[in-house]
Amino acid sequence: MAKEKATAFFCKECGYESAKWYGMCPSCHAYNSMVEAPKAPKTASGAPRTGARPIPRRLEEIASEEGDRIGTGSEELDRVLGGGILPGSLILTGGDPGIGKSTLLLQVFRNLARAGHKVLYISGEESLRQLKLRADRIGAFTGEISFLCETDLDAIAELLREEKPEAVVIDSIQTMSRGDVASAPGSPAQVRECTNLLLTLAKSLTISIFIVGHVTKDGTVAGPRLLEHMVDTVLYFEGDRHASYRILRAVKNRFGATGEIGVFEMTAEGLKEVPNPSAFMLNGRPEGASGSVITGVMEGTRPLLLEVQALLTRTAYGMGRRTAAGIDYNRVSLLLAVMEKRLGLSLGDCDAYVNITGGLRISDPSLDLAVVLAMYSSYRDLPIDASTVVFGEVGLSGEIRAVPMIKERVQEAARLGFSTAILPKSALRADLGAKGMRLIGAANLEEAIKVIKAE
Ligand code: TYD
Ligand code: MG
Repeated sequence: MAKEKATAFFCKECGYESAKWYGMCPSCHAYNSMVEAPKAPKTASGAPRTGARPIPRRLEEIASEEGDRIGTGSEELDRVLGGGILPGSLILTGGDPGIGKSTLLLQVFRNLARAGHKVLYISGEESLRQLKLRADRIGAFTGEISFLCETDLDAIAELLREEKPEAVVIDSIQTMSRGDVASAPGSPAQVRECTNLLLTLAKSLTISIFIVGHVTKDGTVAGPRLLEHMVDTVLYFEGDRHASYRILRAVKNRFGATGEIGVFEMTAEGLKEVPNPSAFMLNGRPEGASGSVITGVMEGTRPLLLEVQALLTRTAYGMGRRTAAGIDYNRVSLLLAVMEKRLGLSLGDCDAYVNITGGLRISDPSLDLAVVLAMYSSYRDLPIDASTVVFGEVGLSGEIRAVPMIKERVQEAARLGFSTAILPKSALRADLGAKGMRLIGAANLEEAIKVIKAE
């Protein structure tokens, strides 16, 4: 008989599977954590035994749940979720400590309670008094909302089965534990088992569950990646803790588009929505200063205007330093090289600093032209007209390449009162529907520079 090569052991801590037993897990280095995997019962044919015969369904037989979405009372959050909360969905909200996750969910649950939904906020991190202090800052609460401080997830499961609320917050998954898992709360095994239980509860009782997850230094939700695979939606709350605005981004969404963002501002009375983020991002920009250029990027389906700033100065010591904030450092080096070669500038002995204002991190290559023009503007000390926006990706031979969704970007700029746009030449072929806006096409960097010199 052929020897069976199935996995026979797995690590309780990290889930590592192996045919051999180890005293120390080769993956997470925990001692005595390998246990025998349960064997599936076999039928006479050798195939695993299954229950009743499974019945596949046709699409027409399946009821669509699209109509049942629950509005959160926050337009920004509704957009990020894809039109509201789908009943029975499991939503992970990640973000740095102190960014405002608890505040956001408390506000959303206040809205839900006010709209007549029965909701429950469970905190494993704060006392009821602390929750009340936060709630007092946000405003009055009405309707069926209750609070619980608890970390024992088995007890919570019991409560949910009895009470059957429509939506629950678990703040945070790292504080929850189950009795039958030996490791400490926050360990990979606990996080996985707790999420598993929450998943079962959400689907079987049709409760929408928001899980709060802390984020580690490298920017992922603490605990196994498995957590992200198990939930329906992953939202990240980001932004500079010291700046007031916050961006909520859907990085995974089984029921909507990813990449959608919602913009909020942290105020003394909780989070306020920012319905016009472009205006917010451009607030306070310098007029008539060199090295400042406005461009637009797409965040999901939504255009967002922002300012690129650059500062080029002669270096004090030999080799020029390059610093980039909010944009890839290598991209800046590449664009400097393109400028040297295609515009005949000698930038080797220049320090170059590039910054996206507002603390955003952008990887959209349509930022290229703005970065080049900002650097050029600073190098020549030539201010760029404040009512001009630029869009375009820059290629290695200095050509300006088309960017997607140019129409949306141009219209956003027109809406905010910009009067001139410098675009890739190819974009002019289509009707961009921006009435009253002067559209100037540029095929390469030289042409774009000529335009800003003539302004
Ligand atoms: P919090 O929601 O506790 O963050 P998280 O749950 O992500 O750790 O938000 C904490 C920060 O927000 C804290 O620094 C105080 C600030 N804050 C305000 O500025 N205004 C407010 O109305 C509230 C409730 C909090
Ligand atoms: Mg919190």
